Amino acid sequence: MRQPLVAGNWKMNGDQADASKLLDGILAGLADVKSAELAVCPPFILIPAVASKLAGSPVKWGGQNLDTHHSGAYTGEVSGPMLKDFGCTYAIVGHSERRSYYGEDDNVVAMKFGAAQDNGLTPILCVGESLEERAENATESVINRQLDEVLDAHGIASFANAVIAYEPVWAIGTGKTATPEMAQEVHAYIRGKLVGLDAGVAAGIRLLYGGSMKPDNAAELIAQPDIDGGLIGGASLKAEDFLGIAKAAG
Ligand code: PGA
Repeated sequence: MRQPLVAGNWKMNGDQADASKLLDGILAGLADVKSAELAVCPPFILIPAVASKLAGSPVKWGGQNLDTHHSGAYTGEVSGPMLKDFGCTYAIVGHSERRSYYGEDDNVVAMKFGAAQDNGLTPILCVGESLEERAENATESVINRQLDEVLDAHGIASFANAVIAYEPVWAIGTGKTATPEMAQEVHAYIRGKLVGLDAGVAAGIRLLYGGSMKPDNAAELIAQPDIDGGLIGGASLKAEDFLGIAKAAG
């Protein structure tokens, strides 16, 4: 049985007071969350405060990004060892906003996936197609390409310690959610691809859906056989909504 994971991607939002209030709300509602694992990914600068607040709680935390290098003259970057030093469990890699606004290609994403694992962090690898790509029936080929670069670089065994988030770009922050059937179809495709490489790894890996997941659509999405939780943007900024999704996950 795969334990559902509900991970909040706060993106570039909030200050210390907001983070503290949000975490107080999440911690206060944990008793109603039955089986899901929860994690939050704050902006880097808030990680120390989040770490001290969540230490000793079941809620994990992670980075939204990390550099490909471990240290050195890379102005403005944050590395895997730094995230690990602050107790991070996860690092999101290859989010579509990183790919489109900051020019991260599949090769860079694969290096970041490796940098996370090299430092004992579990990468949450984001994949997904744009609206144009879906219209051109290229969804599977895009996901194939995004996964292959990581598989070629690190091998299927590396996916034993990874999470994949399917995030259709057209559903992120738009209020448009993939229907449970559409999302399941892509999740089944991803798992099927991995089954062909290593059935055990494929059966164990958690595949999250991301893109306008909310408390009122989460249950139906997460009930799909290959959807094991969510990567939540907007709705992760409100304790009530984040907890609502976590409860829907079981
Ligand atoms: P959203 O973002 O929930 O606001 O659509 C999801 C994401 O970008 O991870």
